[in-house]
Amino acid sequence: MIPKEINVLFIADIIGQPGLDVTTQLLSGLKNKYKIALTIANGENGAGGKGLTINIAKQYHSIGIDIITSGNHIWENRVFQYYLATADNIVRPLNYPEGNIGKGYVITRIFDELPIAVLNLQGRTYMYPINCPFKTATWAINKIRNETNIILVDFHAEASAEKIALGWYLDGKVSAVIGTHTHVQTADERILPNGTAYITDVGMTGPFDSVIGMKKEIAIERFMKQTPQKYEPAEADLKLCGAVITIETETGKAQAIERIQVP
Ligand SMILES: [Fe+2]
Ligand SMILES: [Fe+2]
Repeated sequence: MIPKEINVLFIADIIGQPGLDVTTQLLSGLKNKYKIALTIANGENGAGGKGLTINIAKQYHSIGIDIITSGNHIWENRVFQYYLATADNIVRPLNYPEGNIGKGYVITRIFDELPIAVLNLQGRTYMYPINCPFKTATWAINKIRNETNIILVDFHAEASAEKIALGWYLDGKVSAVIGTHTHVQTADERILPNGTAYITDVGMTGPFDSVIGMKKEIAIERFMKQTPQKYEPAEADLKLCGAVITIETETGKAQAIERIQVP
């Protein structure tokens, strides 16, 4: 039987092995506490901080992540791109130009019958000039709505204003617009007037003794010397960030959003 409302957990960008470790440690407790029906995680930083591998994606699924979203770093690993082409539980931003591998949205089923869509989009402000995320969202939602009202959007973008604008643009059309990519959690979670849960950025899952997940010393050197230094994931002060969104199953409208940063 389909319940009147469900809780969906969205886990912020998982950084390398430390991010996987803290997620493995905390996920089942969070799922029990919030009675989570579906778990989504952004995995673009899974492999040493940049991109994903087949093995890491499989580990995410094995610890209880249902759908993996991504962003600009998903293209780092050439072999993984071929896996993207066939995987039905991993998405990459839909608004990359045509011809790229992978899916921009997936529709999964929970309780064997309730369809839920997860859509991934990427911003363009201070990022690659890819296709318009607003128009792409409209195109995708028109297709998805034939199958389900429950639609969660991972908007992977740099600029707060672009994320807030997309939140308003999609208010009432999707269940949630969850911002990712900056790795810094914002405290502006809310339910917009027409029933869309919104947060500008859910943050990151991994080492906080760092510069957005990477070793501090390397980041400082990079900024001071203005030359490329190879980033490495940091290791200490692990936290899991994310949000739990409560959604009315019949209408797809969000009832609540709770921001998470644990421990
Ligand atoms: Fe990221
Ligand atoms: Fe990113």
